[in-house]
Amino acid sequence: MWNQDTYLKTLLFAGQAHSKQKVPSSDLSYVVHITNVAMEVTNALVQGDHEDLDGTFAIQCALLHDTIEDTTVTYEDLIVEFGVKVADGVLALTKNEKLPKATQMADSLERIVAQGKEVRMVKMADRINNLQKPPKHWDSAKMKRYQKEAQFILEQLGGVHDYIEARLKQKIETYQQYF
Ligand code: NI
Repeated sequence: MWNQDTYLKTLLFAGQAHSKQKVPSSDLSYVVHITNVAMEVTNALVQGDHEDLDGTFAIQCALLHDTIEDTTVTYEDLIVEFGVKVADGVLALTKNEKLPKATQMADSLERIVAQGKEVRMVKMADRINNLQKPPKHWDSAKMKRYQKEAQFILEQLGGVHDYIEARLKQKIETYQQYF
């Protein structure tokens, strides 16, 4: 299970960090994105028998997953606030922008696998959430690339949680409706 007080502390921190940010191509607060990813992870945690999973850790990584990438929060800040395990999880979920763009996803996925099942679930939950209706300016070529990348994520990270993987698979299939 998970700890509600830790959830709240983490949400307040992440909400503050993202307070000026919007969901791309919308007026929505970015907090909508991170809470949705946390919801996907929470929902997966109650499906089936997964006593091996650290729910609190999974939900913390979900709420914080974009903080290093998109805000002024650093890896060191996360260590101070939440400890090394959470900071390492979030760092794995962060693209290394020093690498060529084409290799950033594969590099992040490799680092995610090294962090364990919970972090893999967060990345899949993130992509489930991002397979909603794409922004108007995306052409079909871009959508197809995004769908293909989602398939790559599923292939690299699958094998840890049937329910969340089935949900990602379904989102990949229905993404077709947009192009
Ligand atoms: Ni995200």
